[in-house]
Amino acid sequence: MRMQLQWLTFAFAATVLTACGGSSGSDDGNASSSSSSSSSSSSSSSSSSSSSSSSSSSMSSSSEGPIAIEPDFDLYATTPSDFPVGVAVSAANDGYSIFTHSDASQRQDVIIRHFSQLTAGNIMKMSYLHPTENTFTFGDADELVGFAASNGMTVHGHALVWHSDYQVPGFMKSYQGDFAAMLTNHVTGVVDHFKTDYPGVVTSWDVVNEAVDQGAADGFRRSVFYNELPPVADGEIPEYIKVAFQAARDTDPSIDLYYNDYDNTANSTRLAKTLAIAEALDNQGIIDGVGFQMHIYMDYPSLNDFKNAFQQVVDMGLKVKVTELDIAVVNPYEAGTPALPEYDEQLTARQKKRFCEVAKVYVDTVPENQRGGFTVWGLTDDESWLMDQFANAAGADYEDVWPLLFNADLSAKPALQGVADAFRGQGCD
Ligand code: G3I
Repeated sequence: MRMQLQWLTFAFAATVLTACGGSSGSDDGNASSSSSSSSSSSSSSSSSSSSSSSSSSSMSSSSEGPIAIEPDFDLYATTPSDFPVGVAVSAANDGYSIFTHSDASQRQDVIIRHFSQLTAGNIMKMSYLHPTENTFTFGDADELVGFAASNGMTVHGHALVWHSDYQVPGFMKSYQGDFAAMLTNHVTGVVDHFKTDYPGVVTSWDVVNEAVDQGAADGFRRSVFYNELPPVADGEIPEYIKVAFQAARDTDPSIDLYYNDYDNTANSTRLAKTLAIAEALDNQGIIDGVGFQMHIYMDYPSLNDFKNAFQQVVDMGLKVKVTELDIAVVNPYEAGTPALPEYDEQLTARQKKRFCEVAKVYVDTVPENQRGGFTVWGLTDDESWLMDQFANAAGADYEDVWPLLFNADLSAKPALQGVADAFRGQGCD
């Protein structure tokens, strides 16, 4: 694990904010990832003044440029215990790749300064690592995992099994042989590669991602995996989930294995199914924690919803990991599809408070030895998958929803201060 001491010097040239530009952090039609049926209270602005920071970081803004702070801390070093503070990154030839984007080296600097763990937002999914039955392609992932290793960071692997159709390898969709053996070979091949070539770097995996579908009769998403390896009896979880976790456990008993899903805090149906999966796997000793994606909004879900969901996993003795946090400043699924709010100091102050409160619930609810980590889903607002996701959501056409911790020009947002304040136990106003 990364030691909390390594930041030496940091400087980046402030460039002019291209606030609403960018695209590319797109989705795969997985529209439900962020949605929740219900809505929250009014998003009208009130709230506190943006000057109420509890640290000495200074803030600057203008009508032309970003609302930014100059942090006097490295985020990962503010944690009360040494849990991973992560960020999902683009790599290879993704737009916003930390290796090929025009500001790649500045991106790397910010990531190295503030985070201790990386998740690949895209390039470690099934089709990229295992395109044909007898071929594993690790070049792009190796570049990313190697970058993490050489900068003292760990990697949370994402994801060994996921239904997202265009990222399921073609050979799996039409597989004629022993599907369980094939799936075992997939998981084993991927986990073993990183265990062997980067010992101690890929410390955890989302073994199965998003297996819940509350619209399905038994609550489990239909996919090629489900179809080939369904539950063996009523009340059981699908067999493919067990096969994948068992293979991962057998291959590397030293890493943490997570079941990861979205909308599993306020949505009691989805939470119950998530917990049922965790419990079944825990009964076999083949799971270490539950991942809560947390693609959330300013007022929804409630802090109590988070607390309740985290607590239930804590009570099972498993780890809790916030795996994909972003906080859009507007919720397109709210009744009436609200207009895009003005992104001003009041709004950034509200967002700072929200990030702080979410981080505070996490550290207040989850005991040290059960903290799997706290990861945001992207570095800069303009690279967020929500740029595309919300462009058409619910008839809305939002040019930006500013969901992350850094502005498009890589300057830190007040939200970053909010997370640090929570980690340092300083309160959230
Ligand atoms: O890399 C290509 C690039 O070369 C090309 O120019 C561009 C043109 O569209 O596409 C780029 O690939 C995109 C990739 O993201 C990188 O930006 C894919 O089209 C796009 O489908 C892919 O979307 C990712 C999506 O998962 C599907 O894998 C998003 O970045 C990623 O944020 C999103 O992440 C998911 C989690 O895995 C699971 N939970 C929900 C979350 C949000 O949907």
